[in-house]
Amino acid sequence: MTAAMDITITKAERSKLQDLNLENLPFGKYFSDHMLEADYENGEWKNVEIKPYQPLLLSPSLAALHYGQSIFEGIKAYKNPEGEAFIFRPHDNFLRFNISAQRMQMPSVPEELFMEGMRQLVALDRNWIPQREDHSLYIRPFMFSSDELIGVRPSENYKFMIILSPTGPYYNAPMRIYVEEQYVRAVPGGVGYAKAAGNYGAAMYATAEAKKKGYDQVLWTDAYEHKYVQEIGTMNVFFVIGNKAITPDLGQGTILAGVTRQSTITILQEMGLTVEEAPLSVDEIIEAYKAGTLKEVFGTGTAATISMIKELRYKDFVMKFDVENWKTAPTVKKWLTDIREGKREDKYSWMQKV
Ligand code: COI
Repeated sequence: MTAAMDITITKAERSKLQDLNLENLPFGKYFSDHMLEADYENGEWKNVEIKPYQPLLLSPSLAALHYGQSIFEGIKAYKNPEGEAFIFRPHDNFLRFNISAQRMQMPSVPEELFMEGMRQLVALDRNWIPQREDHSLYIRPFMFSSDELIGVRPSENYKFMIILSPTGPYYNAPMRIYVEEQYVRAVPGGVGYAKAAGNYGAAMYATAEAKKKGYDQVLWTDAYEHKYVQEIGTMNVFFVIGNKAITPDLGQGTILAGVTRQSTITILQEMGLTVEEAPLSVDEIIEAYKAGTLKEVFGTGTAATISMIKELRYKDFVMKFDVENWKTAPTVKKWLTDIREGKREDKYSWMQKV
């Protein structure tokens, strides 16, 4: 796009909202009335449209289906008690989206298309933002290669889209987590830091194996030694040990730089905790558990928000936690909720008005 972006808006004739109650929603099952679609052709973004949510007509030779040039983001919109709509830290997701695009040899998406396109789409479907506890409008921007050619090479054509899903909590209850030491999610030099669709596909087998053993998700360990913890399924992970909160550092490029992770670090520091972003080994975790200094383990993510972990299993060693008596994770969760609901000062301008 060279000139200021033109968005063509075609409104749905009838709102599907009449058929849906925005309460007790599962994650990611329902979609709002409209979607945004744009095409990358001949080195330019064009055909930017907001239109009724509808299926796509795609060729079976579509490059993304064969070689996986496909990336996405997850962002949430909320309403404050006055009914005003806000999006949580969308610019951070915009920056991460283009980092993913670069790693997957895809074109970057201009800020105006991503940010203004999202704002206009959310504004149009603002009635879809639930106002119930732990509910929000989940925003899913994504891009995929759209050449109709099965030769292995970066595509010349791409589609960028945004869809919206009114949604409830991703995880409803404290989780049981299996420390994975056979399969790996990411390696240094790989795509672990990118929000590439294939990272999620590649995680499904190990996760299904852990589920068969009665666990909700796996905690990934590093690819070389299976010694250092990385991240959990769809979340970053935090350990409260003594008076410190520790989360694995992003240095090796194997961990997703979560926006909720970054927000949690800021909040923990405001709460007066020392936060360390550093390698953390399973041995150190077990040692702290045995010494009674491992106080809390929790995951952070856009979809997951703050999810408490009530059990962690490494080989045959099971660590159990009394989540009812925790202080840190529930405080972070409330802190974030209060900012979103306008009950706590939004010091860092995380909430962007729609
Ligand atoms: C998110 O937290 O937004 C995610 O993208 C995780 C998952 C739903 C894929």
